[in-house]
Amino acid sequence: MKDIFAGMVPPHVEAISPYIPGKPVDEVERELGITGAIKLASNENPLGPSPKGLLALRGALDGVHFYPDGGGFRLRRALSERLGVTEDEIMLGAGSNDLIDLLVRTFCAPGRDDVLTHRHAFFMYKISCMAAGVTLVESDATAELACDVDALVAGITPRTKLIFLPNPNNPTGSYVPRSDFEKLLEKVPPHVLLVVDEAYHEYALARADYPVAEKYRSKERPLLVTLRTFSKIHGLAGLRVGYGISHPRVVSYLNRVRLPFNVSSVAQDAARAALDDLEHVERSRRATLDGISQLTAGFSALGQRVYPSAANFVLVDVGRDAQPVYQALLRKGVIVRPLRPAGLNEHVRVSVGTALENARAIKAMGEVLG
Ligand SMILES: Cc1ncc(COP(=O)(O)O)c(C=O)c1O
Repeated sequence: MKDIFAGMVPPHVEAISPYIPGKPVDEVERELGITGAIKLASNENPLGPSPKGLLALRGALDGVHFYPDGGGFRLRRALSERLGVTEDEIMLGAGSNDLIDLLVRTFCAPGRDDVLTHRHAFFMYKISCMAAGVTLVESDATAELACDVDALVAGITPRTKLIFLPNPNNPTGSYVPRSDFEKLLEKVPPHVLLVVDEAYHEYALARADYPVAEKYRSKERPLLVTLRTFSKIHGLAGLRVGYGISHPRVVSYLNRVRLPFNVSSVAQDAARAALDDLEHVERSRRATLDGISQLTAGFSALGQRVYPSAANFVLVDVGRDAQPVYQALLRKGVIVRPLRPAGLNEHVRVSVGTALENARAIKAMGEVLG
């Protein structure tokens, strides 16, 4: 019988390997018949949500029979005051993933425009490009798996419409320092949209040479977009809210394509409160920096290569096929992220947890590797 599903979707959709998220604790416990599993697989905040955000979230629940403010006015105003930009320079998304997808769909025409990033850059760029039928070009990375700015520049062609630069990058944890970033800015043609994905910037600010991209947006270089999220340091990953900063014209184009009410009312209120929760941000930052040191020292002592990280996770080269290592860790109730889908077959990514969770991950890894 003829397969009625054959040819049902366009070839660029058929070719997509779906994004594989970190396995939820419930699922692992159910499948393996264990209890007390810990998840260090999705770069979430081990200290939990911002308490101020949580309070606002509870307060907002009574109003969920209303649609959200489609323009997100109050959250955009709070962000604009915090960032020193105007409200029409801010766009909101259901997480920064939503904005990544929106950028590709809004600015790139299949067959006409290419998107450029580097090898080992955040995986969602590829999925959004494939879904839109837009070619993603990946420039070579350095031997340390970081962004090679010269190679990225060499990858620019007349078809390049948009460049995604994750800074810091996930899953490698590396960042592009100021000198390299400025070199890149000099070389990117002014008509190319440079999108700097700063999901982890709060952690990287501890580095003196970390460049905050928005500072470089100017009259001469208006086509710079910064993406940020409430999913990481603010601890609101489950609410799905992120934002972008750019020229009002860029924002207005995105608003043409954006679905109405893409950010829920409760997410908008919680995010606004979380933005003011500087204490939670600072506590989370300190705990993460300590956690990076703990994980780095622990895995290094096991003889594994741990890549320097400016984010809230570490990339670990386990020196063998990482899939069985991942499975064995799962059986010990420690959920990490294997990176085969990112082309890193011998690597796992371990998110910073609490000090106790980090210690458990290190101990489990030691046992697994024998
Ligand atoms: C580099 C990077 N960008 C964007 C995101 C998307 O985050 P969200 O959609 O939760 O804002 C992530 C999430 O892991 C990320 O690592």
